[in-house]
Amino acid sequence: MTESPVADLSREAAEAELARLARALARHDALYYQGDAPEISDADYDALRRRHADIEARFPELVKPDSPSQRVGAGISEAFAEVRHGVPMLSLDNAFSDDEVRDFAARIARFLKLPGEELIAFVAEPKIDGLSASLLYVDGVLEVGATRGDGRTGEDVTANLRTLGEARIPSRLKGSGWPARVEVRGEVYAPTDAFTAFNAAAEAEGRRSYANPRNFAAGSLRQKNPAITAGRPLNFFAYAWGEPAEGFSETQAGALEKLAEWGFPTNPRSVRVEGAEGLLQVYRALEADRATLGYDIDGVVYKVDRLDLQARLGFVARSPRWAIAHKFPAQQATTVLEGIDIQVGRTGSLTPVARLAPVTVGGVVVRNATLHNEDEIARKDVRIGDTVVLQRAGDVIPQIVAVVPERRPADALPFAFPTHCPACGSEAVREEGEARRRCTGGLICPAQIVERLKHFVGRKAFDIEGLGEKQLVAFHERGWIREPADIFRLARDKEQLTALRAEDGYGETSVGNLVAGIDARRTISLDRFIYGLGVRDIGEQTSIVLARAFETWPAFEAACLAAADGIPSEDWVRLNEAPAVSPRAVVTLAEASPPAGDPWPEAPIDQQIALAFPSLAAPARRGLATLADDWAGLVRLAAIARDEGPSEGLGQIAGVSGVGPVAARALALFFRETHNRAMVDALVAEMARIEDAERPKTDTPVAGRTVVFTGALERFTRDEAKARAEALGAKVSGSVSRKTDFLVAGPGAGSKMADALKHGVTVLTEDEWLALIGG
Ligand code: IVH
Repeated sequence: MTESPVADLSREAAEAELARLARALARHDALYYQGDAPEISDADYDALRRRHADIEARFPELVKPDSPSQRVGAGISEAFAEVRHGVPMLSLDNAFSDDEVRDFAARIARFLKLPGEELIAFVAEPKIDGLSASLLYVDGVLEVGATRGDGRTGEDVTANLRTLGEARIPSRLKGSGWPARVEVRGEVYAPTDAFTAFNAAAEAEGRRSYANPRNFAAGSLRQKNPAITAGRPLNFFAYAWGEPAEGFSETQAGALEKLAEWGFPTNPRSVRVEGAEGLLQVYRALEADRATLGYDIDGVVYKVDRLDLQARLGFVARSPRWAIAHKFPAQQATTVLEGIDIQVGRTGSLTPVARLAPVTVGGVVVRNATLHNEDEIARKDVRIGDTVVLQRAGDVIPQIVAVVPERRPADALPFAFPTHCPACGSEAVREEGEARRRCTGGLICPAQIVERLKHFVGRKAFDIEGLGEKQLVAFHERGWIREPADIFRLARDKEQLTALRAEDGYGETSVGNLVAGIDARRTISLDRFIYGLGVRDIGEQTSIVLARAFETWPAFEAACLAAADGIPSEDWVRLNEAPAVSPRAVVTLAEASPPAGDPWPEAPIDQQIALAFPSLAAPARRGLATLADDWAGLVRLAAIARDEGPSEGLGQIAGVSGVGPVAARALALFFRETHNRAMVDALVAEMARIEDAERPKTDTPVAGRTVVFTGALERFTRDEAKARAEALGAKVSGSVSRKTDFLVAGPGAGSKMADALKHGVTVLTEDEWLALIGG
């Protein structure tokens, strides 16, 4: 499928592509922020985002509240409690050139309808390269400190933030005149010296070192044990606030003074200046002094000084109109590529990592750089022995930008990407549409075992108390646990438990607790059991839906085994997944068997489809047109629909509402592998009981009703709302139709509200919904 110009996209094609892009972006965000292992280059990521933004700009009615364009930064991880920010923590738009800064100032003047010659006052602040934190003070006392998370909800890291000390994060505000409730915001960062010293010591002792001060600050702040954070050299600069929207200052400069009076460090290089040229002067001065500041900055943030003007200017989607980040250009260096290592992740994906002759880029010693995937290596024609240009753009993992061809050694050969997993020797295959090869070794692959076991004992899966990463690694090293069932065997194994006491210094009580923690999970709900298996594409929500649909383990397992008998191709998945192409349309296509020769060679494909399948609804015709480039493509689709009719089990799984063909195929592939089946059997044998899932309730006010949530929900997250509604027997849908019973609308509801009015659907506020379902 080639990318059509945005202007040519039909609404349906745009909708389908937006959904696909949103899924891809969510996946790459998660890889980047949570897994530290991006699969694609920044440039490719930016291209995805740009395409998404372009389509949304052309079809504004398709912008969803949960669109990537409405989200900021990383999702939240599981280890910390959630904190809902009083006011969302937004991000900033970027400017990369002087002209973009001038445009920014001009845009503001235009928006405020200021006369041409009047200069706007700004505050220019160094853009600290750390991670932002929000500190809620109630009556002057620090109540909660949180990370930004996804912008609305962050992680509760209060205990860790307190370890920064009174001089940086006061437990009580100093001075007077602070609002009764105030969310002070700023950046937690690590001084460069302290970071370098930490890494040197860590490397000498064989402990984990960090790629840059920002990762170091983030890793240090997100420790489960605050004592570890306390030992890390972290600092803080305050520069913003959430609640209250107004009241304690009239200007940004005044607010910074107040923050300093209350006891926070504020950046001494922040200054008030007028007009775009004033901003650019500050930028040049900071750029010149950058290396000597003692901490990393990756640009300068410009903010309109007067807060009443800020309020008038307001926000566009994720960022304020009254501020911008003027980024420094990326820093580059050249070095020699000494080797390419292959890392294996939890799901077995193979990532090439460049091993480099150490070189300093922007004050940080770089020894490794990501090469993302094999196409990237081929595209840049990177060879071992090459001299490469390395780039570090502040907050990202170093990238190899290009090779220097003149300095290539005569004998440098193109890199042959391994076809087998370096950790276990199993074949590594690359599926269509995937950027990376994946090891097929599953749980026989040592690189994947610990990661998978971590998933298995995780909070949303088996949630085994007393068994964390540290224990898993230790027990795996001793050869005690290789697969989930071994965890349960450990709790019965007298010899291993004795060894824990004798060799690992476990006391009677801790051994007792560990055994109790494990034994407690011999009874487990079906959804947790399914999720715990760690099948690709089977997330928590899908597991819940599957459990409800199949009710018992034997029924679910039977469907999976049946599905494993007939695994469809990627094309089949794509055809069945296309939003506008209903199962009936697929049958129509299969039965029609279009002739191989093109009967209307001159006509565009959408017209050909209309001529060939007059009985198909228009949306389905357009959906098919996005899948087939030409007549031959259409013939191929029809053959797939005809020949690859799903096996019974697969159809049964894919037919469950909310599951779909991708997940069904993933289960089929998983259960086809004998080693996975053996792993599951062994685990089942250790269970006392896998509890049947509850049938959907039928005795609640919303049982059997269809509900749609829209707008920016304030009383609950979308996931919570959905889980709650489903637990009460309601069906949650993503779009409003005649069959919808309720539309629950938060602020900013758009096209769905219009649809609801059109179809006469009952519209409820969040509170009305809560009242209906009983609080
Ligand atoms: S103001 C609504 N000021 O940059 C605007 N942000 O890209 C809130 N940052 O998330 C942010 N120094 O982590 C602001 N002086 C500064 C900053 C700063 C660093 C970071 C912050 C923010 C990101 C936005």
